[in-house]
Amino acid sequence: METLFVGNHTIHLPEVTSTNSYANALLKDVKAPEGTLIWADHQTAGKGMRGNVWQAESRANITASYIFYPAFLNASNHFLLSKMVALALFDTLTELLNPANYDIKIKWPNDILVNGKKIAGVLIENSFREDKINSAVIGIGLNLNQEDFGELENKATSLYLLTKTQFPREDVLKKISKNLEVVYLQLKGEKKNQIKQRYLSTMLGFNTDLRFLKTADQSYFNGRIEGVEDDGKILIQLFSGEVKAFEMKEISFGY
Ligand code: BTN
Repeated sequence: METLFVGNHTIHLPEVTSTNSYANALLKDVKAPEGTLIWADHQTAGKGMRGNVWQAESRANITASYIFYPAFLNASNHFLLSKMVALALFDTLTELLNPANYDIKIKWPNDILVNGKKIAGVLIENSFREDKINSAVIGIGLNLNQEDFGELENKATSLYLLTKTQFPREDVLKKISKNLEVVYLQLKGEKKNQIKQRYLSTMLGFNTDLRFLKTADQSYFNGRIEGVEDDGKILIQLFSGEVKAFEMKEISFGY
């Protein structure tokens, strides 16, 4: 399927510090068309969440950023964009892998895991105008053909490691663009509930008893994930029955 606008305007770079940084700089100069895709063969300073570095072998993986102008979203609902992108990646992986044979999950906030290992990560950088989202740079790192993750071997995987098949980057980017367009138009077309419900139904640990680690004092507590708010906070029902909202930096789980 061709897309209406996502990925129609493309910038392919042999090398860049970070496709997100490139997109942010571009936005300072011009109003790039909505859905502009910037992708690179190699990033010299790829950015991950929480200030981490994103490392990806040259030419083997997808390192890409899309530009959107979701002015219909309130700044406080920014996490709807994360849910949307996670679902587009989930849908792409469901098309590429037989879901009967692989366990594909979204791990809050927006990591994608296959068989318990991370295959993709998302870094969204927004700019705001008044209380609306003026522009969003949606950075996607998806491991395609990388065969070796070194010390991350137990935590990271790629489509190649899962299937022993090589995946051409352009083909997978086309699928991502198509799936992103579908979910973006749902979000824009007031079908937010579909996005929210699907996010929960594909989320690792939803409605199951889990052990969480509190970042502040490294203590553990048990609870059950009840939902994720539009600002990104996770709702956890504690043993006492009380439901508490936590921010990303406050807790972690699934170790
Ligand atoms: C994470 O899981 O920590 C998020 C990783 C996001 C990586 C992608 S690669 C393309 C884009 N450019 C960047 O510098 N980061 C994102």
